[in-house]
Amino acid sequence: MKSSGHQKVLFLSPTEFPNLDGRVAIITGGNRGIGLETVKGLCKANVTVIIACRDENSAEKAIKEVKEEFPAAKVDFMKLDLGSLKSIQTFAKNFKEKGLPLHILINNAGIMCPPYGTTEDGFELTFGINHLGHFALTNLLLDELIKKYYSALEAYNQSKLANVLFSYELNRRLKEKNCPVTSNAVHPGIVNTELFHGLPWCLKIPQDGLIYLLFKTPKQGADSSLYVALSPEIEGLGGLYFVNSSPSQSSEESHREDLQKKLWKISCGSLEFQNDSNRTVNLLA
Ligand SMILES: NC(=O)c1ccc[n+]([C@@H]2O[C@H](COP(=O)([O-])OP(=O)(O)OC[C@H]3O[C@@H](n4cnc5c(N)ncnc54)[C@H](OP(=O)(O)O)[C@@H]3O)[C@@H](O)[C@H]2O)c1
Repeated sequence: MKSSGHQKVLFLSPTEFPNLDGRVAIITGGNRGIGLETVKGLCKANVTVIIACRDENSAEKAIKEVKEEFPAAKVDFMKLDLGSLKSIQTFAKNFKEKGLPLHILINNAGIMCPPYGTTEDGFELTFGINHLGHFALTNLLLDELIKKYYSALEAYNQSKLANVLFSYELNRRLKEKNCPVTSNAVHPGIVNTELFHGLPWCLKIPQDGLIYLLFKTPKQGADSSLYVALSPEIEGLGGLYFVNSSPSQSSEESHREDLQKKLWKISCGSLEFQNDSNRTVNLLA
């Protein structure tokens, strides 16, 4: 859709934004101009907003203006001078100490064509404030932003997929070297152990829940590992996935050779095993 010669790229009109209660945003230079109007839009969507700017008085004035329009607005000020790395560090530290999550960071503040000058740290003023200041701020807050997208359960699932990918890849490498050692993966079933204590509260199962009756005991959970490790029937068999002591089909992804090789490479890189193939030869020697 075109409007007055410009391509329209808004997916939602600003009047259609959803209720984002619980979200937290930081906006630099939210005390006036485009920043202040952005603060109003965020408050309208019920986002909690931190105005990050230099001057407390002008921030208080802005907050008053926002609250006149949106009395329930959750908007606050935190001091930030983008022309000072010390101020940026203090801001990031103070924000983290508040214990708030961070979902949105809007790097809005900016200056244009001031007389030549430098920031506190000696950088040309405009580049220092408009870019370097925001670069530093963003990097100091990046962990906070990323945390919101971390799923502990997803991380667990990924690590378990990695276990199976590794087992298959290892078995192939051993076989290629005509090594008599084999590698298999085992799923013990659902077993009543402390493993579940780490679940987020919303997925926690009450300790006295009847559901535990459906879980295996740790002794039963050990059956599969013992069977694969000790049974003469398994001797010489590799590249298999056992569930309840029976060979089973593992997920489609786990059979992808490209993923198995990629994981091997990433793992060598993470552990700084410089020479992947030499290390493999050593491992198999
Ligand atoms: N207006 C336009 O036509 C236009 C066009 C393209 C892009 N932009 C960009 O849009 C953004 C907002 O501009 P605007 O038009 O709303 O300008 P503005 O009304 O002059 O607002 C600039 C904001 O930046 C803040 N700021 C300046 N230096 C700062 C520093 N060292 N530390 C922290 N905050 C600082 C100011 O706060 P203080 O009160 O502390 O100075 C103010 O809140 C800028 O990045 C600008 O480059 C604007």
